[in-house]
Amino acid sequence: MSGEEAFVTLATNDGYAKGAMVLGSSLREHGTTRKLVALVGPHVTEPCGHALRAIFDEVCPVDVLDSGDSARLALMQRPDLGVTFTKLHCWTLTRYDKCVFMDADTMALSNIDELFEREELSAAPDPGWPDCFNSGVFVFRPSVETHEKLLTFCAENGSFDGGDQGVLNSFFNTWATADISKHLPFLYNLSSIAIYSYLPAFKHYGRDAKVVHFLGKSKPWSYTYDVESGKVVDFPEGPQAGLHPDYLRDWWRLYTASVVPLLRRAYGDEPVPSSGMEEGSRDIHEDETASSPSADPPSEASSSPRPMSSEERKQRWEAGQMDYLGDDSFANIERKLDSFLK
Ligand code: UDP
Ligand code: GLC
Ligand code: MN
Repeated sequence: MSGEEAFVTLATNDGYAKGAMVLGSSLREHGTTRKLVALVGPHVTEPCGHALRAIFDEVCPVDVLDSGDSARLALMQRPDLGVTFTKLHCWTLTRYDKCVFMDADTMALSNIDELFEREELSAAPDPGWPDCFNSGVFVFRPSVETHEKLLTFCAENGSFDGGDQGVLNSFFNTWATADISKHLPFLYNLSSIAIYSYLPAFKHYGRDAKVVHFLGKSKPWSYTYDVESGKVVDFPEGPQAGLHPDYLRDWWRLYTASVVPLLRRAYGDEPVPSSGMEEGSRDIHEDETASSPSADPPSEASSSPRPMSSEERKQRWEAGQMDYLGDDSFANIERKLDSFLK
């Protein structure tokens, strides 16, 4: 028993590597006393590897495992998630007694070291099917034996969702019923998707959130951030966005403050990948090799060209065309809710 404990994440490409950098920075910012480990696939490029090494205690190369189960992944509309089988390699980190795995699209909002008091397999409910745990944040004990059993389980049974969450829920199949101490409060894995499906609960409990999880197709690094205004400029309309603008902005702030300087150093004399890193230009974008011209945040006028009747607004809302930065912004909805509650 080494007595060592670690937070562990995974990135198989540069997009998720940036997520991992923000996650690592958020854990450090909140003063974790545990080690930080990033598992990385071979497609993570060297500049990102460099920045990861500056944040994490260990950056471990791993082979990418892919479920190849396109049929089940299609059901989730996430063909990209077969590679999440790679997550199962976290059980090989046997130099640590206990670990907390966190998806690269999560961000700590406070110190969460108390999670190490929990046992394998502790996790929070999945917002889509709460009798399943969400595998974006979980406590586990590295073990060669468990790792082998998991791989055998995958080979024999596959995964009902085509990704790691299906396998892990089938493998740790008493989670829902056996031991309530293995149920982490939802606040340790607040899926941004859940915020809009139960807004009053978010309003009531949300301030105590400890980890935000940008679950779903849209990730923070898919957007463009305007450094000067401190706003994400291309925040999408429609329910598919599923991201809370405040958390999205917090993610970008941390990325700008803690990650960009590391990437800058890593790229050295090469053309700096993001236009936002250059003096005089203002945006930072996910695609760091393509320098995007500065884009202004949508003005009030462009996001709502004329006052809309409430019937028209209702129709747009029902068609999934919310004006997230304007009339339908979280702040406005909150104000409306407040007026009802008063
Ligand atoms: N992941 C990765 N590369 C991929 C897809 C996923 O490294 O191409 C890792 C990453 O750590 C990610 C996790 O697997 O956070 C789970 O995927 P994702 O977060 O996209 O799933 P979601 O939470 O949206 O269902
Ligand atoms: C989920 C989890 C994610 C997991 C994926 C595939 O929605 O948030 O961590 O990788 O399903 O099973
Ligand atoms: Mn995730």
